[in-house]
Amino acid sequence: MKHERSTFSNRIGFVLAAAGSAVGLGNIWRFPYLAAQYGGGMFLLVYLILAVTFGFALMITEIAIGRKTKLSCIGAYQKLSKKFGFLGWIASAIPIIIVPYYCVIGGWVTKYFVDFLTGQGSQIAKDADNYFNTFITVGDSGIFQNPMLWFVIYVLAAAAVVLFGVEKGIEKVSRIMMPILVVLSIIVAVFSLSMPDALEGLKYYLLPDFSNFSPMTVLAAMGQLFYSMSLAMGIMITYGSYMKKEDNLERSVGQIEIFDTGIAFIAGLMIIPAVFAFSGGDESALSAGPGLMFVTLPKVFGEMKLGQVVGTVFFLLVMFAALTSSISLMETVVSIVQDKLHWGRKKSTLVITAGILLLGTLSCLGYGPLASVQILGKAFLDFFDFMSNSVLMPIVAFLTCILIGFIVGTKTISDEVKLSGNFKREKLFIVMIKWVAPICIIAILASSIAEGMGLFHF
Ligand code: PFF
Repeated sequence: MKHERSTFSNRIGFVLAAAGSAVGLGNIWRFPYLAAQYGGGMFLLVYLILAVTFGFALMITEIAIGRKTKLSCIGAYQKLSKKFGFLGWIASAIPIIIVPYYCVIGGWVTKYFVDFLTGQGSQIAKDADNYFNTFITVGDSGIFQNPMLWFVIYVLAAAAVVLFGVEKGIEKVSRIMMPILVVLSIIVAVFSLSMPDALEGLKYYLLPDFSNFSPMTVLAAMGQLFYSMSLAMGIMITYGSYMKKEDNLERSVGQIEIFDTGIAFIAGLMIIPAVFAFSGGDESALSAGPGLMFVTLPKVFGEMKLGQVVGTVFFLLVMFAALTSSISLMETVVSIVQDKLHWGRKKSTLVITAGILLLGTLSCLGYGPLASVQILGKAFLDFFDFMSNSVLMPIVAFLTCILIGFIVGTKTISDEVKLSGNFKREKLFIVMIKWVAPICIIAILASSIAEGMGLFHF
């Protein structure tokens, strides 16, 4: 049976859905702690420059590939070049690896949202380290303290949206959640900035200090860019395949970038000054990794005026951001199954949901009952994160640059972009795809593998 390919209803629908995919845990949780760790204002500056050059070139390439071929990533790469068909398989493995563990973290966020909503915020703030630890290690036998429950609820919510399809599910949810997310982020940022002593943190975050620059600032910013813009994993190819030919591609990419970078920037405003003030200017409080969102921030909310309400709003917005991203990851996998096996949306979504529940259970229990099972010295969740983000994504991005730059030619992408308007940054795109991006990506790959293997820490 041949399926009529779904489309987004118009350009704004497409932009909001793609921004919904891009804006996720990466922006709110990962960006602020990387920014704090790698030089504050200096990191911000480098990130912004990379977003409009490197990020722009990779994103427009992927969306154009999708819209040109009207296929999800396996078929799309095969159509561009038989020899590079394998790339589609690697790219599609990435969301399959990511979505289960991403939903586990989504479940943690949901739990914290319900906790704050039901008035337990100040209780958590008192003993935040222990609370989080007991929760993820499944140390308390109560059903509401079990991460599996929250993981399952979260997966079912995301699956329900995917089941409704592109226009009625994904687009509709993004149209509602994304504007709310922007408003909520601004409210939380204003509250954070009103904390006494927040100004010092604000200065650190906004003013570039060149003595804080190191090559690692660039590598960390570039790695974050991949993560944040949902690049090199077939998502933007899939979403591009649902885009109408007459919708302006270059303008859309610009708007997705503004959304994604804007929310990351506001997340920095929400978190860096407040944590700075709370910790008395101690930068190490910000490099707490995953703990930052689930341990340090609840403590900050505990100190803040109206902290209970601000905390509730904060976790609600993180939940929205995570949900739209999980939906895009899930949609990418569903779309591959639909294209390859010619199954209907319902059957594909149900089978994929079962797979996510199964695989995600490993990550969900990986810090508790399954903690004794480690791969490369990592718990399941960390291992999946490492494989996808540090190994497979740079490989896919590098080979995509080679494919477009030297095999099929940059003209293929330029022609597709020009179908719907001018291509103002065409020269920049060509230089990036052929030369700058491949070299930088190899550097990211080498450094992140070395770091992941524990050879050094950056
Ligand atoms: N771009 C989204 C985020 O920043 O959270 C979703 C995402 C995609 C996260 C892919 C991580 C990832 F590897």
